[in-house]
Amino acid sequence: MAQLYTFNACSVETTIDAMNQDQLRHYLALPGKWIIADRVLLHLYPHLFAGIPLEHVLFLQAGEDAKTDAQLQLIYQWMLGNQIHRTAEIIVLGGGTVTDLAAYAVATFKRGCRLSLIPTTLIGMVDAAIGGKAGVNFEGFKNLLGCFYPASRVIITPEFLHSLALEELRQGWAEIIKMYLLSPRLQLGQIPEDLIPSVELIMQCVDLKLNFCIHDLEDRKERRWLNLGHSFAHALETVSGYKIKHGDAVLIGIGMAAKLSRTLKLIDPDTVSKIENTLSLLCPPSSQASPDTSQLIDIMLQDKKNSDSINLVLFTGWQQVDVVSVSVQDLSEDH
Ligand SMILES: NC(=O)c1ccc[n+]([C@@H]2O[C@H](COP(=O)([O-])OP(=O)(O)OC[C@H]3O[C@@H](n4cnc5c(N)ncnc54)[C@H](O)[C@@H]3O)[C@@H](O)[C@H]2O)c1
Repeated sequence: MAQLYTFNACSVETTIDAMNQDQLRHYLALPGKWIIADRVLLHLYPHLFAGIPLEHVLFLQAGEDAKTDAQLQLIYQWMLGNQIHRTAEIIVLGGGTVTDLAAYAVATFKRGCRLSLIPTTLIGMVDAAIGGKAGVNFEGFKNLLGCFYPASRVIITPEFLHSLALEELRQGWAEIIKMYLLSPRLQLGQIPEDLIPSVELIMQCVDLKLNFCIHDLEDRKERRWLNLGHSFAHALETVSGYKIKHGDAVLIGIGMAAKLSRTLKLIDPDTVSKIENTLSLLCPPSSQASPDTSQLIDIMLQDKKNSDSINLVLFTGWQQVDVVSVSVQDLSEDH
């Protein structure tokens, strides 16, 4: 696979390549590269790191509860200890938690080094590595510390998906379904039994996400539509102590957004059914405790305690969404 996608995301040009693992191994071994990687990859793909000087690689713990300021410190110390210059290229390999965390460190160290991202999970490929959002969780709040810092290069290597657990693949499909529900441009097709999407579908998602981000890097206009289900999802993740995974939380959050859209008469019951049928294409995990909704609302309002409304992405039709100002009263009464 050697398709080259080049886009201009705002003033930063992000080159998006597809590479196979052999090409990737050669790229990582080029002199002068600094690598931050999910620790699990060392065990699954040791050949990728063979021959690279030890001090040039930092392995990190992945997972939502590892997206912390403590791990951030580790990265800063490694960068400082190795006297990494701001013109150096730092390559980050991992899922969304590692790329979010490491990208934040790279963005802030010496006001920003050159960043390349190699997503190794489906969420990473179709979503997290695209569009320049970086961040860490803080004091129990998801992505409370963050910035916008598009990578100069994103390399998609679909082979990584073959070692990913079905549960993790499902998290990525949740984001694909989200994109399908908010844009008629995405052709979903059949969800394969092994949950490995076609390369074409991955690239369609990349293209769609870039199109949302290209003129709205800072999430002020249409990019906000990509947050469909996410206000609920982030609150759910927080309430569950991150036991509910991101994609699962997004699916539940989209269901809640559909229900609220119906209550506010933005969509009719048929559209709600269509949305729910689409969500049910992905089998939800068997043991999903029902959320404590008053606690969810408290978290969603965390920095808006004194306001009487909140902006949410809601459905306005089939495959149509918009940002809607919802009164706290409507939100509370819906649940
Ligand atoms: N920045 C953004 O725009 C954006 C968008 C969507 C999601 N996110 C963030 O992404 C995170 C979720 O990402 P995720 O689901 O990739 O989580 P993750 O990074 O925790 O990865 C999930 C699991 O897969 C493992 N893993 C990674 N690559 C693997 C591989 N090739 N084979 C086997 N196992 C592998 C990891 O070690 C981890 O255990 C959340 O924090 C979410 O907020 C960010």
